[in-house]
Amino acid sequence: MQPDYLLDLDPRDPAFYNNPYPAYHAIRARSPAFFWKQYGIWCFAAHADVTALFRDKRFGRQILHVATREELGWEESPTHVKPFYDVEAHSLLELEPPDHTRLRTLINRAFVSRQVERLASRIEALAHQLIDGFERAGEIELIEAFATPIPVIVIAELLGVPTGMAPQLLDWSHKMVAMYQFGRSRKVEDQAVEATKAFVAYLKGYIIERRQKPADDLMSHLIAAEADGKKLSEDELITTCILVLNAGHEATVHAIGNGVKAILENCLDPRPLLAEQVKAEPLVEELLRFDAPLHLFTRYVLEDLDWNGITLQKGEQIGLMLGAANRDPKRFPNPDQLDPTRESNPQQSFGGGIHFCVGAPLARLEMRVALKVLFERLPRLRLTGQPAYRDAYHFHGLERLDVRLWP
Ligand code: HEM
Repeated sequence: MQPDYLLDLDPRDPAFYNNPYPAYHAIRARSPAFFWKQYGIWCFAAHADVTALFRDKRFGRQILHVATREELGWEESPTHVKPFYDVEAHSLLELEPPDHTRLRTLINRAFVSRQVERLASRIEALAHQLIDGFERAGEIELIEAFATPIPVIVIAELLGVPTGMAPQLLDWSHKMVAMYQFGRSRKVEDQAVEATKAFVAYLKGYIIERRQKPADDLMSHLIAAEADGKKLSEDELITTCILVLNAGHEATVHAIGNGVKAILENCLDPRPLLAEQVKAEPLVEELLRFDAPLHLFTRYVLEDLDWNGITLQKGEQIGLMLGAANRDPKRFPNPDQLDPTRESNPQQSFGGGIHFCVGAPLARLEMRVALKVLFERLPRLRLTGQPAYRDAYHFHGLERLDVRLWP
């Protein structure tokens, strides 16, 4: 029998996106699965379902490898958004094996922990440099002044794009990822297409330059793979650069922002924890669990099936509620408590299965080092008001984070 839990909840309601956790608890208490009217899909809020669904091969980020558009009754994308989807079609985040495996293998090496650890001193220097710039001020807005520049500069350097491009990269990226938020408008679509075209044009020109001057960075590695002819096409090279640049900072900015907010609101002195790596790492995991920067990811159902009494048909989409899974009391005792000493913390903020975030080691390092420097240098940091989240569900990040630096 099909469970009958129809949820009528507007993702653009400020009361919801500013603090979705009471709603998640109420939903989960009634049923682990619900049909979300506004999205028109079945969604799963329990930790056990979310972890199992991420790993189940009967679900995929893509479905066109097992069915045609005609079979699915899909129309072509409207012409005005086609340039965006043409680029996205080559993204490893939108592919399934074997293409996914081929592309992921090419970038994976750059992001494994031992490679990424080499960036710790660079992240630390960057954090100090930013704080040097605002230490004398009485109050500051931390999202713009601290949380945003670190991830974008680090990912640009890792890929091999000039850091002077950072403001432009941020602008293109924000316009492109706005395509994934709930209730996007025609204006959002047009801006995303313009940003896509400009980003592609820039990278095409830049790649021509870089072919002459290879360096020790990810882009040179990808250019060499493309030149090899078999491993990577030019379209894949461009899309991979765009994906790495966009995914490489969007969520990390908000993981840092949400983390600082959680520490300050919970009156936690993080300095003794951040001073030792063995304690700092669990703190970062707990911050990611407590207030994840991304709350909902979708999957296609690749074959007709039954999931705990819910009939799912090939071609439909389902939603995995990461923020809700992270607060599931069946998996996390006292889920609404920020507890950096949790014994076991299988938080789901980086997803799971074959698309598990390839940048997770980098994001964890950036959070650990940035927070350490921030609280060492500014131990008396205080919030100056109640920070508001952006109206951009399923993203869960702060509009601003206003703080006082000294009492
Ligand atoms: C705290 C920060 C971050 C969070 C919360 C996060 C979260 C995620 C999640 C949930 C996914 C899986 C999406 C799905 O399964 O549908 C993902 C995939 C991905 N992430 Fe991250 N991410 C973060 C930082 C980064 C960074 C720093 C990079 C750097 C390159 C990155 C690159 C990627 C890429 C390339 C994928 C696609 C992987 C694949 O499809 O195999 N992310 N991320």
